[in-house]
Amino acid sequence: MSRQITAWRQEYLTGGKTRIESSYTLRPEPSVLWFHRQLRQQGLRLGKLLDLGCGRGRNSLVFLKHGWRVEGLDAAGEALRDFKHLAGPLSAGLGLQQRDFKQPLPFPDRHFDAVMEITAADNIADLRKREKFWREICRVLKPGAYFFSYHFTPKDGYYGPLLKKSPDNSRGLLFDPRGHMTFRFYDVEEIIRAMRGQCTLCARQSYRYPGPMFGSIYQRDLIAALFKKTGDPHAA
Ligand SMILES: C[S@@+](CC[C@H](N)C(=O)[O-])C[C@H]1O[C@@H](n2cnc3c(N)ncnc32)[C@H](O)[C@@H]1O
Repeated sequence: MSRQITAWRQEYLTGGKTRIESSYTLRPEPSVLWFHRQLRQQGLRLGKLLDLGCGRGRNSLVFLKHGWRVEGLDAAGEALRDFKHLAGPLSAGLGLQQRDFKQPLPFPDRHFDAVMEITAADNIADLRKREKFWREICRVLKPGAYFFSYHFTPKDGYYGPLLKKSPDNSRGLLFDPRGHMTFRFYDVEEIIRAMRGQCTLCARQSYRYPGPMFGSIYQRDLIAALFKKTGDPHAA
């Protein structure tokens, strides 16, 4: 098991409000509510969603509550156990797999109506593996289906200063000594390049708000990007 995954498992075992916000909060990201609304506006009210790096499921629960079938994938079994518990009776519509998402995704081609990664892909530091990750997402999306990415920018009040003082900052690499984790930041252009010819960018939106990390408040800075897989949805 990689050091990064061990660090995430430890993060969930420790828990509590002096840790990373997504490890303990039950509040879904506002951007995910926006994503859900976008899908409804496109007439997509029900379907199959894949949540990559789902954690404890706070974002997927939005979809489960609206009757979607959700597949959650995460390397930390501790988070998945909490997710199942939090889903309660809704877990009838939930599939969970403890897996490393750098490996090929365990789903057939053209399987999902929507895929999301919420502050998860920056855990993949190797650029070739990350390119494969984006292309795997394209593979499992049905034609006409949607991919949603929500990720930090270098202006983030917590990670930004760590990135600035990182010796590898031009390559987007940073080490967080409090979480004992390494991240590699990316931008929407990286996703566009990797998904070229398969998915197109439909919308992007900035999110800035004060949020807690390790017991202090920082100005968070993230980008939400919505992609659509090309092709006729009825041809799948
Ligand atoms: C910042 S948390 C976000 C969790 C969730 N998306 C949320 O917003 O609440 C990142 C998640 O990615 C998971 N993760 C990190 N590296 C992973 C990998 N290689 N394979 C699968 N999951 C991974 C972690 O266990 C963690 O749950």
